[in-house]
Amino acid sequence: MTILVTGGAGYIGAHVVRLLQQQGDQVVVVDNLSTGQRDRVGGAPIIEVDIAEDRAVDLMVDAMREHSVTAVIHFAAQKQVGESVARPAYYYHQNIGGMANVITAMERAQVRDLVFSSSAATYGMPPTAIVEETADPRPINPYGETKLVGEWMGRAAGKAWGLRFAALRYFNVAGSGWDDLGDPAVLNLVPMVLDRIANGKQPLIFGNDYDTPDGTCVRDYIHVLDLAQAHIDTLTYLAKDERPYDVFNVGTGTGSSVREVLDGLARVSGLAIEPELFERRAGDPPHLVGSPARINETLGWTAQNGLEEILTSAWTAWQTGPRRISVAGE
Ligand SMILES: NC(=O)c1ccc[n+]([C@@H]2O[C@H](COP(=O)([O-])OP(=O)(O)OC[C@H]3O[C@@H](n4cnc5c(N)ncnc54)[C@H](O)[C@@H]3O)[C@@H](O)[C@H]2O)c1
Repeated sequence: MTILVTGGAGYIGAHVVRLLQQQGDQVVVVDNLSTGQRDRVGGAPIIEVDIAEDRAVDLMVDAMREHSVTAVIHFAAQKQVGESVARPAYYYHQNIGGMANVITAMERAQVRDLVFSSSAATYGMPPTAIVEETADPRPINPYGETKLVGEWMGRAAGKAWGLRFAALRYFNVAGSGWDDLGDPAVLNLVPMVLDRIANGKQPLIFGNDYDTPDGTCVRDYIHVLDLAQAHIDTLTYLAKDERPYDVFNVGTGTGSSVREVLDGLARVSGLAIEPELFERRAGDPPHLVGSPARINETLGWTAQNGLEEILTSAWTAWQTGPRRISVAGE
């Protein structure tokens, strides 16, 4: 099989590329290397283009035909919630325009299987602590909106010309499957904590008076390698005749608080972590955990790693990369 992976040079995409290569599949990557890195794709060919540009359609059609592509996994997107609020048109153009181009190219090349990177951001502020896919999606920022529209687009193409489509709604992705594939961005909690410490500062906690066991926000942390495996399992699912669902949470059903993550990082790293306390941030739900029941039952997928493995692997990858932090006693 040959799989075309958009955004394959990025954090999550590179994990999927490596898993595919390890199971003997061929991979072609489409990436503009805006946040991705060439050396993360294990020698797979890279078509270097912004997928939201018009010319990307022809380039993707050519690549699909030349490499006899059988399925697409679409990661390439902008993913910063705050930036999406400041630059909505850019986010709509990149994420929705990019998705439209991917589907257009697939229709032209008659490639029928598509796995799409969606997000828990599609839920907004869910009414229940553990959210199921049946919850009404009500995104509260343009980023989440672009992901929801991406899901609509995939579903509509299924009805229109037979695209076999599944969207994976990721919760809080962290950790690394290999030391050279750590999260290069400083946008999520774990790298943000490590980055502040590397710069001689303490991490911040925004609000400790939420209605949660220790007062800090609770999130569902998912190991990036488990998430990568969910994509491989989704490809298998798409090849089946019976596909009852096209949206799946990729979460663990278990929440960890900001305080627990900081304590865990201190434990696995030996760092002295003494967070500074700030006011709550607007728009942070107190508790956001994904029910994994549907993906467990339909795809047979379950997360194999817990918070300890996530934090240990994130710390090791951080130390292996260019951003080593010296720990007292080392
Ligand atoms: N990391 C998370 O916690 C998280 C959570 C939910 C959803 N997601 C989604 O998962 C996907 C991958 O996220 P990631 O964390 O690996 O991000 P990333 O920034 O590391 O990877 C994105 C990749 O896509 C490429 N890219 C971005 N825009 C492009 C464009 N217009 N044309 C071509 N290539 C482009 C980048 O160069 C990069 O290689 C994104 O769609 C993101 O919205 C991520």
